[in-house]
Amino acid sequence: MKKKIDAFDYAKEITKVTAKGILITTKADKVNTMTVGWSSLGVEWNRQIFTIYVRESRFTHEQLEKNPEFTVNIPMGDFDKSILGKVGTKTGWKLDKIEENGLTLEEPEVISVPGIKEFPLTLECKVLYKKTQPLNEINIDPEFMEHEYPHAVDDKYAVLNNSPHTEYIAEIVAAYIIE
Ligand SMILES: Cc1cc2nc3c(=O)[nH]c(=O)nc-3n(C[C@H](O)[C@H](O)[C@H](O)COP(=O)(O)O)c2cc1C
Repeated sequence: MKKKIDAFDYAKEITKVTAKGILITTKADKVNTMTVGWSSLGVEWNRQIFTIYVRESRFTHEQLEKNPEFTVNIPMGDFDKSILGKVGTKTGWKLDKIEENGLTLEEPEVISVPGIKEFPLTLECKVLYKKTQPLNEINIDPEFMEHEYPHAVDDKYAVLNNSPHTEYIAEIVAAYIIE
């Protein structure tokens, strides 16, 4: 069962947990989910928008390039917080994180990507616009640059590496709570 909602009525629930981590699920080669901490809820082109920032090195990035749709999966109440760490450090390049973490998929309403029952507040999103650009180091505070985009880390699986983020600006085309 899905309880339809207006995402903006849940703005507080969505944005308060964002810094701690929410999940972004994609579907192309397979269904995959990863933790994101950078995101925002807002309005652009008079539409409800959810924006995410995904490093080019992520499996999620590869999936979004093949199928530019995703679900945002937000916890409500008690949940297993260790999942955020597990899907936020292990990569879909190497394993099936849905199966590994016993996550239950929920049929989507509008897009092709499922939700996750254990993270019930769900936004179905279609990418409208993406911004890709190489890092312009002259414009970044050097300390911040070294912390967020360390030159020394030559590992595409590392949480922090030198890979730049692509900004995906997506329209929220359905919003609900999985009950
Ligand atoms: C709390 C937390 C927040 C994160 N936020 C982001 C983010 O906003 N963007 C990003 O590209 N990676 C972020 N990561 C790292 C990815 O979740 C991690 O590299 C993951 O293994 C990528 O999975 P994938 O290769 O299957 O896509 C975050 C990790 C954690 C633990």
